[in-house]
Amino acid sequence: MFVLGIETSCDDTGIAIFHTERGLLSHALYSQTELHSKYGGVVPELASRDHIRRVLPLVKQTLEIAKLSLKDLNAIAYTQGPGLAGALLVGSSFAAALSFALKIPALGIHHLEGHLLSPLLSPTAPTFPFIALLVSGGHTQLMEVHGVGQYKLLGETVDDAAGEAFDKTAKLLGLGYPGGPALSKLANEFSKSGKICSLKLPRPMLHSGDYNFSFSGLKTAVLTLINKKEITSQTQAEIAFAFQEAVVDVLTKKSLAALTETNLTQLVVAGGVGANGQLRTFLSRSAKEIGVTVFYPSLEFCTDNGAMIALAGAMRLKKSISKSQPLINSFTVKPRWNLETQAIK
Ligand code: KG4
Ligand code: ZN
Repeated sequence: MFVLGIETSCDDTGIAIFHTERGLLSHALYSQTELHSKYGGVVPELASRDHIRRVLPLVKQTLEIAKLSLKDLNAIAYTQGPGLAGALLVGSSFAAALSFALKIPALGIHHLEGHLLSPLLSPTAPTFPFIALLVSGGHTQLMEVHGVGQYKLLGETVDDAAGEAFDKTAKLLGLGYPGGPALSKLANEFSKSGKICSLKLPRPMLHSGDYNFSFSGLKTAVLTLINKKEITSQTQAEIAFAFQEAVVDVLTKKSLAALTETNLTQLVVAGGVGANGQLRTFLSRSAKEIGVTVFYPSLEFCTDNGAMIALAGAMRLKKSISKSQPLINSFTVKPRWNLETQAIK
């Protein structure tokens, strides 16, 4: 079965075609980063309007690459939430119209389900069950994953998400938007320079005894430093290094604790912050020491993309058919949506 995946939850238009047996056939992405950068953050109305411009050309492009036409499609998977309401509506209305015209089902997919299944797109994929560390711009969660639709939330951020903290701290340091990758680059350059960092930032909730996270205090600690010190390029790099070190330390230690408690031996890291090189190095090294294998999506599938939505759709489609559940065919979006409610019994 050929599944068209549509992702329009925020500022990336991602389209892909996934075949239930043959895997990913094609994918295309249009990033709106440049459009929003001059405003210092995503402008929801501009995001929706741009998705409208991009969806159709990208669908045509992915069909062409896969050497398919619209009538070959068997189902459509679109991001139904969580995300920006207007942006989600573009993908969902497009999916509903296509579903109606082609008489094929449209499945509303949870954006985070797409992220946590995204490492399954890699040639060396994990097998169920595993622990998933979801670290994106909007979410930071630790999940126990036993299969498609079988998710148990172990803990999550009580305030800012890790990516959001990266972006806000980068903004404080004058690194532009979205600042996560820029801050990380600066921190890594400092690390490679061999200089010693004189700063140490707090590790929020490290010893809270649960799997919850908090990152807004870290950003405030950076703000306090900035207000006290004269910001030279050296202090800017040191702050970036100390910030990244603190976030990576907390994410790593809480993930390892979850693995130890559940006795699971596979960790999946997904979401934009999963592209962070320092997190990858630190996590893989620490996990190896306790016999855990860490799986990452390839860099292009770490951030928002259509392939992960098409994959989640294909996996759900297989389950629906084997259990003869009715397929969802709706036109609603869920800007706020709890993944655990997406359980497949
Ligand atoms: O998963 P994603 O593309 O979108 C959401 O669903 O939020 O994640 C975007 C987030 C942004 O906050 C961005 O700054 C962060 O991921 N990010 C990074 C890196 N690359 C992207 N944060 C730290 N280091 C990176 N290399
Ligand atoms: Zn995302």
